[in-house]
Amino acid sequence: MALVTTRDMFKKAYEGNYAIGAFNINNMEIIQGVVNGAKAENSPVILQVSSGALKYAGPKYLKAMVDAAIADTGLDIALHLDHGPDFETVKLAIETGFTSVMFDGSHLPYEENIAKTKEIVEYAHDHSVVVEAELGVLAGVEDDVKSDVHIYTDPDQAKDFVEKTGVDSLAIAIGTSHGAYKFTGEAKLRFDILEEIQNKLPGFPIVLHGASSVDPESVETCNKFGGNIAGAKGVPNEMLRKASSMAVCKINMDTDIRLAMTASVRKVFGENPKEFDPRKYLGPARDNIQKLVQYKIKNVLGSSNKL
Ligand code: G3H
Ligand code: 13P
Ligand code: ZN
Repeated sequence: MALVTTRDMFKKAYEGNYAIGAFNINNMEIIQGVVNGAKAENSPVILQVSSGALKYAGPKYLKAMVDAAIADTGLDIALHLDHGPDFETVKLAIETGFTSVMFDGSHLPYEENIAKTKEIVEYAHDHSVVVEAELGVLAGVEDDVKSDVHIYTDPDQAKDFVEKTGVDSLAIAIGTSHGAYKFTGEAKLRFDILEEIQNKLPGFPIVLHGASSVDPESVETCNKFGGNIAGAKGVPNEMLRKASSMAVCKINMDTDIRLAMTASVRKVFGENPKEFDPRKYLGPARDNIQKLVQYKIKNVLGSSNKL
């Protein structure tokens, strides 16, 4: 039981045709829901922290809670910086004790993305930390990076980028996007691009961002109890399962956690407006997150019993 990098996790996932769930954490209940789910499924897990989460909870609190989660569950856990915007944030994460960092230079000109990623890879590797980078642009919102259109990852560029930067994993754009509104029409992912990247970079771990499935039941519960989430649509679970069996070794989910949590909290308040004990609404939210995580591990990621 320790904080580990994603190196061994990804190797086993690639060879075993499954993926590791990377869940965004912001507070204690989310951490407990996620790790209890992973523990119940005997599954490896990645906890990831965005810049927004760093600001919200503070690096010291997050690190201490993740240490507590490891001690409590006996799991090996990777602690990852999600969408690191700059060197300063990457350094803060590494100083805090993160074992993996993402540098997101996907919005930069190609050569600049290479130069900045390479600099971060050298620094991180010197500190025994692994690095995820991104190539291509996901439609939607990536922290402060907004885009209306997808720019799919170019497979030749992906190979060139990995060779020039020495990065440990690569997030690619094949049609997913962040948030609850991923597709206006039918859901479609460019598996042909993923396959081409896999062929050009055999054995290399690929990461899928914007991969929440936006469970209609959670959306319905939110709306039934006073919410107003209209037209939400996520990535179908079958597509995520297919990606997990290919080169995708890490699947990022945040929106699904948010919806599971909010649906539970709204339900408690909707059914009992007199309630004001936080344990009475955060407890069910934590349980619902655990249920979601177990479902994903078992039916989508395929990482049950892979410890
Ligand atoms: O990719 C972004 C994640 O969903 C994190 O979102 O920046 O609101 O914490 P956040
Ligand atoms: P979702 O918004 O689909 O959950 O994606 C989360 C993500 O990619 C975090 O980096
Ligand atoms: Zn992301």
